[in-house]
Amino acid sequence: MIVGLADGDVLHPVQQAWLGCDVAQCGFCQPGQIMAAAALLARNPGPTDHDIDELKSVCRCGTYVRIRQAIHRAAGSA
Ligand code: FES
Repeated sequence: MIVGLADGDVLHPVQQAWLGCDVAQCGFCQPGQIMAAAALLARNPGPTDHDIDELKSVCRCGTYVRIRQAIHRAAGSA
């Protein structure tokens, strides 16, 4: 669950990056996007654009560019 990502008051790096990149638009898909991103980084700490695009997540608002940017930021590569 997304509420378990944070460590008390300290947000997970993916959550911090999401806020820093202002990813969310309507927010409907965001919990799933964030959990998928955290899982990706747990198994691949340096994902490429292709790795991120392979998540095949759906966002009706089309926030894909900001999602990619936030995942790179959380990985420390942006
Ligand atoms: S932010 Fe609206 S559906 Fe993804």
